[in-house]
Amino acid sequence: MPTLIFHGHACWEVQGEHRLLIDPFLSGNPAADVGPEHFRTLDAILLSHGHVDHIGDAEQIARATGALIVANYEIASHFADKGLAAHPLHIGGARQFPFGYVKLTIAHHGSTGPNGEAFGSPAGIVLHAGGKRVYHAGDTGVFLDMQLIAELNGPFDAALLPIGDNFTMGIDDAVKATEFIGARMHLPMHFGTFEQIAVDPQEFHRKAAAAGQAVTVLEPGGSYAIP
Ligand code: NI
Ligand code: MN
Repeated sequence: MPTLIFHGHACWEVQGEHRLLIDPFLSGNPAADVGPEHFRTLDAILLSHGHVDHIGDAEQIARATGALIVANYEIASHFADKGLAAHPLHIGGARQFPFGYVKLTIAHHGSTGPNGEAFGSPAGIVLHAGGKRVYHAGDTGVFLDMQLIAELNGPFDAALLPIGDNFTMGIDDAVKATEFIGARMHLPMHFGTFEQIAVDPQEFHRKAAAAGQAVTVLEPGGSYAIP
């Protein structure tokens, strides 16, 4: 069964029959537990949007491993132009890859690249792999269509949700998101990396539990084996 490994911020490794990485912001991330050199073999890198704290080390890791970059059309084209293997998707579109099924969903946020590149629309990521269903919300505020995303693509075994406020939904809005999504487990991300997003994940845990929703808080380097 797939295991989710939290590498800090919004970076998650999915280990199962295949090895995937989502939003690999490792270099320059004071909270990351590993660096880009940690990854020698990797099947794919999934990117939610173009901000530097999400694209991160994607180029270096893809070059070292040959991993396929999967992202929106604008980001995928950017990496394909650099000679890397990349597959474009866009909002609402899905594809069955050898390593799993990936669909991009809406997220309410920005996506401009670190050098001002127009990196299209931000996205959330639905991943079906190893018989399990995972939703990485990307960077976003809460929105009612999270209910629809769960109805169409769930039930989710795990939902990875930003809680850090300032750039994304904060704790109270993220608790509402857990009610919309109703995953078997919700795991917080995008908190604690910088002063602007320094919130207490245990507060999220307590408030979500009071709303009847399951939460597991991981430290960078921690893992959650999807049961
Ligand atoms: Ni962002
Ligand atoms: Mn971010």
